[in-house]
Amino acid sequence: MPEQTLTIADNRTGESYTLPIENGTVRAMDLRQIKIDADDFGLMTYDPALMNTASTRSAITFIDGDKGILEYRGYPIEQLAETCSFLQVAYLILFGELPSEKQLAAWTYDITHHTFVHENIKTLMQAFRYDAHPMGMFISTVAALSTFYPEANEVNDVENRLVQIKRLIAKVPTIAAYTFRHNRGLRYVYPDNDLSYTGNFLNMMFKMTETKYTANRALERALDVLFILHADHEQNCSTNAMRSIGSSRVDPYSATAGAAAALYGPLHGGANEEVLKMLSRIENTRNIPEFIQRVKNGEGKLMGFGHRVYKNYDPRARIIKRVADDVFEVTGRNRLLDIALELERIALEDEYFISRKLYPNVDFYSGIIYQAMGLPVAMFPVMFAIPRTLGWLAQWQEMITDSEQKITRPRQIFVGHPRRDLPT
Ligand code: ACO
Repeated sequence: MPEQTLTIADNRTGESYTLPIENGTVRAMDLRQIKIDADDFGLMTYDPALMNTASTRSAITFIDGDKGILEYRGYPIEQLAETCSFLQVAYLILFGELPSEKQLAAWTYDITHHTFVHENIKTLMQAFRYDAHPMGMFISTVAALSTFYPEANEVNDVENRLVQIKRLIAKVPTIAAYTFRHNRGLRYVYPDNDLSYTGNFLNMMFKMTETKYTANRALERALDVLFILHADHEQNCSTNAMRSIGSSRVDPYSATAGAAAALYGPLHGGANEEVLKMLSRIENTRNIPEFIQRVKNGEGKLMGFGHRVYKNYDPRARIIKRVADDVFEVTGRNRLLDIALELERIALEDEYFISRKLYPNVDFYSGIIYQAMGLPVAMFPVMFAIPRTLGWLAQWQEMITDSEQKITRPRQIFVGHPRRDLPT
């Protein structure tokens, strides 16, 4: 086997350095020994948007963007989506192995029995304007949870951490559903402990006058699959935010609120909202060629296409297309689906998208499904945030217990004015 090292010649000094290569990386800190003189700070790397920097070791999610592979703890996403429930996958992602029957029963019981929120949370949410964006309400309410559980700042206490993790996974659907009911001017619906994670979510969203809500089995399962697909995606923008905020050792509620804020952006979890707006604007398949031309002219993006990591078909998008069929069988076909399918067909044959390796991502079809389920567009990023809370927490826990991690603090290249004195 060839030697796993990198030799660097510094032409400024004529010195040469040999650095170890491990897992296809060199340690950025190893570069600091490369100096022009004793006063020099040492060589740094410049990597805006962290395009080529591994910020952590992680054992949670594996992605091969060129091959279109996504695995949680080694299991392919296709198999997990086919056979597991969201709570099984949640356990797997958090603890590293699938739960036994007994473990799953205990885990389900724990999550189910943490779904209620303090009545003051309801009062707090009622203070929002009737038309407040649900994601803004979600972010603020999750942050407010830290004031209800002040002990959550004991982040180094294993047991304490686990309680907060369970609370967050259990309460985010409740908060999400309350944002929806608030926008609609409907009374809040309390969790029903007899129902599954997604069945209860549908109950809190859509229950009207019936004494007991029964979710449509196909929709309940479709939502479970969507939640599995969105559970984690390694070091994306919001997860990086979660780790970075959490590295200050703040409580997980505050960190999760920060991660959710990162997710809200239109280039990340807000993309599904943008896709729906885009499809509605296109209005008719006849208008697609003109729309594509405008994208190619740089007048906007084809939302739901492209990914920093996937340079192949996003495997989640493939599964979501199948989920869409199951949902439309219950709800009737969403007319925007025809526009989406035609848009995808045309884009995948177009040189602009082919040469840039732009394929549909998870958000291209998820919005169409959520709309068919009766959700307003503004709820879409919230639907992403519910399952991703799990991923954020697993990544946060991994970061907290990683002895190599410290408070995140990147460097900068200062390009501002050199020292000067105020005019006298
Ligand atoms: N439509 C048109 N052109 C695009 C698109 C798109 N959706 N995405 C990328 N491009 C083009 C860029 O203009 C650029 O072209 P150029 O080389 O001629 O300048 C080239 O493809 C490379 O794109 P970058 O922006 O450099 O790719 P990056 O990795 O930085 O961006 C991102 C990835 C943000 C996802 C981008 O593809 C995008 O904005 N997509 C639309 C928004 C979206 O769907 N986001 C959801 C991502 S998935 C998720 O968060 C769950």
